[in-house]
Amino acid sequence: MKNIVIFGAPGSGKGTQSDLLVEKYGFKHISTGDVLRAEIKNETELGKTAKQFIDNGQLVPDSLIIDILAATYDALGQCEGVIFDGFPRTIPQAEALKAMLAERGTAVSAMLELQVPTEMLVERLVNRGKTSGRADDNEETIRKRLDVYESQTSPLISWYETEGLRNAVKGYGTLQEINDALCAIIDKL
Ligand code: AP5
Ligand code: MG
Repeated sequence: MKNIVIFGAPGSGKGTQSDLLVEKYGFKHISTGDVLRAEIKNETELGKTAKQFIDNGQLVPDSLIIDILAATYDALGQCEGVIFDGFPRTIPQAEALKAMLAERGTAVSAMLELQVPTEMLVERLVNRGKTSGRADDNEETIRKRLDVYESQTSPLISWYETEGLRNAVKGYGTLQEINDALCAIIDKL
């Protein structure tokens, strides 16, 4: 059973590439952003709290997200592998993921980092905002999300490097080129 972290800034293509990997390998996909947006849609207590952070481009507090992560993971049951998309986003989350998997006798197999220049990220997300209906896909909030990524999430790059799990991939070009680069790494695991 493989546990793969797909990592990158907002708009780097984590969701897009996760869908392709699910199709190819039959992995299951946990996107914490999608989980939170479903909570918001269902107007749960968690959703109401999360909305205040998401709409401002801020991260939801670690304690909230770590709790739902374990429950979401356990609900998947047996499978070939799991892709974690948008989690972890802070060092405490990475430590919590490591501990959660260790308790279940498993571990992260690889971290796949999609590298995309900042202005390309803004352009992709502004474009997506025309149709996505996502409250955080407007230029002002996109730039805040990118700042939050720089300050709170990018330290995970060296954290995963130290763990010996980091694999960086060029995250622009055709979807197929990027997917081929990710598959080459996964096939070696
Ligand atoms: P989340 O939903 O995870 O959003 P994000 O990280 O900001 O990333 P996106 O989903 O916007 O981008 P993506 O990398 O998936 O790219 P995509 O494939 O869509 O999180 C949202 C919010 O929830 C956070 O801000 C936070 O508040 C909260 N949250 C979530 N997880 C959390 C956590 N762990 N802790 C705390 N808070 C958390 O692609 C983007 C666009 O580019 C698409 O239009 C796509 O078609 C296009 N595209 C993709 N690839 C290419 C390509 N190669 N060439 C051209 N266009 C491309
Ligand atoms: Mg996404």
